[in-house]
Amino acid sequence: MKGIILAGGNGTRLSPITPTTHKQLLPVYDKPMIYYPLSVLMLAGIRDILIISSPDALPVLRRLLGDGGDLGLRLSYAEQPVPRGDGDALIIGADYVGDDPVALILGDNIFDGAGLPLLLRQAAAGHPGCLLFGYQVPDPERFGVAEVDAGGRLISLEEKPRLPKSDLAATGLYFYDGEAVEIARDLKPSWRGELEITDVNRAYLEAGRARVVTLDRRSHAWFDAGTPDALLDAGRYVRLARQRHGRSVGCVEEVALRMGYIDAEWCQVLGERLGASAYGAHVRWVADEAAGAQIRRAG
Ligand code: G1P
Repeated sequence: MKGIILAGGNGTRLSPITPTTHKQLLPVYDKPMIYYPLSVLMLAGIRDILIISSPDALPVLRRLLGDGGDLGLRLSYAEQPVPRGDGDALIIGADYVGDDPVALILGDNIFDGAGLPLLLRQAAAGHPGCLLFGYQVPDPERFGVAEVDAGGRLISLEEKPRLPKSDLAATGLYFYDGEAVEIARDLKPSWRGELEITDVNRAYLEAGRARVVTLDRRSHAWFDAGTPDALLDAGRYVRLARQRHGRSVGCVEEVALRMGYIDAEWCQVLGERLGASAYGAHVRWVADEAAGAQIRRAG
């Protein structure tokens, strides 16, 4: 399965922080925002990932993440010259994806939860149609809104409706079978001239091939960090997880190690490169722990 991170958009909801900097490079507590969606794809077992962004931001993202080899990944990059909606990611990524199944994640989406790695691996194991992740929110009108039946089958999906039919937001994480690119190609742009990802998902819905996994609020957190409040809330959440529970949400080196993409020795090198930051100390600690476990196993 391939992965796409759409790190596009003008970030107008964060103006005037943007456009002098790029949204997905903003810090969410101790790391750039893009680490979070990247770690989600990595947890799903996806190692071939295309990062799509604006011509301005792309060189900076490339400088940050390189070819992904350090993390045991294969990263590619593609330009989105002008924002044309989230569905445009499937058009830009068409050659890259081919007929493969693909997971698309929006670059400002942050997920956390104990059960998440298992859910992601199951989602990536392949299934016909498309799979969305829903999350109950108090302000569904800000999002795509899903209505589901008891079996998790999607009944309706509306983009930012004035009168939402449920409080279930469709998060910005989508798993598709090999037909998503074809579907996106057949779409007509919305009245705003954009290819809406919701229209791709609605095509699957109309074919009776769309399912939703609801992420339980009691055990999962989800943020669309595209507004000042959500950005701050996400940062505070990540800080709390770090300080109270010793967990580093979105730590790509740790995920690479736990997924077996890199070994403890290399993780230690990456941690040393990170220097004196608390993030670097966490990476070194994770590497030490894994090396210790290896020695205990060998003994
Ligand atoms: C996009 C999608 C929307 C989804 C949201 C999640 O909206 O169009 O359906 O609920 O991402 O982050 P955007 O944030 O681009 O306005």
